[in-house]
Amino acid sequence: MNSIIDRDLKHIWHPCSQMKDYRTFPPLIVNKAYGSFIELESGHRIIDAISSWWCKSLGHNHPRLKTALYAQLDRFEHVIFANSTHEVIVQLSEKLARLCSGLDKVFYASEGSCAVEIALKMALHAQKIKGFSARNQFTALQNGYHGETFMALGLSDLGLYRRPYESQLIQPKFIHNLPYVSSRNDLLWQDCSSVWPAIEKQLEKQAPKLAAIIIEPIVQGAGGMLIYSQDFLRRLRIWTQNQGIYLIADEIMTGLGRTGLALACEHAQIQPNFICLSKGLTSGWLPMSAVLTHHEIYDLFYADYFQEKNFLHSHTFSGNALAAAIALECLSILEEETIYNKVQEKEPILKKLMEEVANATEKLTNIRALGAIVAADLILTEKEKKQRVGYQIFQEAVKMGAWLRPLGNTLYWLPPLNIEIETLETLKNITIRSIKKCL
Ligand SMILES: Cc1ncc(COP(=O)(O)O)c(C=O)c1O
Repeated sequence: MNSIIDRDLKHIWHPCSQMKDYRTFPPLIVNKAYGSFIELESGHRIIDAISSWWCKSLGHNHPRLKTALYAQLDRFEHVIFANSTHEVIVQLSEKLARLCSGLDKVFYASEGSCAVEIALKMALHAQKIKGFSARNQFTALQNGYHGETFMALGLSDLGLYRRPYESQLIQPKFIHNLPYVSSRNDLLWQDCSSVWPAIEKQLEKQAPKLAAIIIEPIVQGAGGMLIYSQDFLRRLRIWTQNQGIYLIADEIMTGLGRTGLALACEHAQIQPNFICLSKGLTSGWLPMSAVLTHHEIYDLFYADYFQEKNFLHSHTFSGNALAAAIALECLSILEEETIYNKVQEKEPILKKLMEEVANATEKLTNIRALGAIVAADLILTEKEKKQRVGYQIFQEAVKMGAWLRPLGNTLYWLPPLNIEIETLETLKNITIRSIKKCL
């Protein structure tokens, strides 16, 4: 009962896991991680094909991020962020404001879900201050995901995650019939006029009561790496503006380069009322999230204290200085190394490699790609659908040297944005072998 695994299993409850699974497939003991690789205690090296839950956008152990962290450590780690400020977070906020042009007020938190909660509360509160108290509901898109806290989960259309808590979750009427595409070449990407009227009808039914709509712009991650039309997002933005309904862009997965542009909203050239960022903000070094909004919303709250327009939301680690130092350096690296352009160059390579997996295995369909995201669905018999094939592939791939973590029966790669092409080749070969081993 002394090995690290036994000691782990005695005390630790791991995230997003059925702990019984760990008896047959124990936690992997990590020794180090560098670039696109995670190295286990055994010396076994694994490609981090999912950027450790989509956050390690600049890979592991980036030397510049380490230097930035040490430099901040020499000054201070964390000071209460109410009534305090410092050069690093001011610089970071200036950069974020430039990046999210027009949205120049930044509110900091730690986890992605916290950012979602903040944006929802700000939207509701802003409507109330404006005198629209009846605008007190939210809606979201089918297959969307916004996190695990109660409101964020309530606005997530993922039955498996919702079911145990359904009785306490809000029950939005999710917007259905989204124009999904497999790439930007799809006709629907440019023009979704054929499906828009049916979507508008759903929206209109809810319009008078809505405070805000929350969306994952362009790519829905946890719902299965689904890509939808930029024209839909553009139309939705115009519709919300006309109705006085706020649009919250949850860019927690897509933000800072994942789709080949700094923000996925840029594909539709829209400016939402709120942008939520996390994950890639610190390239997964430290927990940090941010909500950006524009001054019209900020100004609604700006008043004498006793008018009770104060946004009295706080998190202990809001504005954490270590995270801010890393985030600031991340933004510099993304800019200086022209990472967004490099992601655009990787998109066809990722797609081609996934097509090669499909050809070699004949077990993949519906390949879709955008930026440094490529996904495909496993072709399974009814019997196989009940056998957790995705989970079996994950286990085989880990043994062979790649950390895939299929979403149900959707297989995807979402590697560090700066992953080397030869590593992607290796990833392709491991993916082929692991599918063949399981099917
Ligand atoms: C789009 C989106 N929103 C919100 C979240 C929640 O972020 P966190 O896990 O940091 O709370 C996630 C996490 O995967 C996400 O992908």
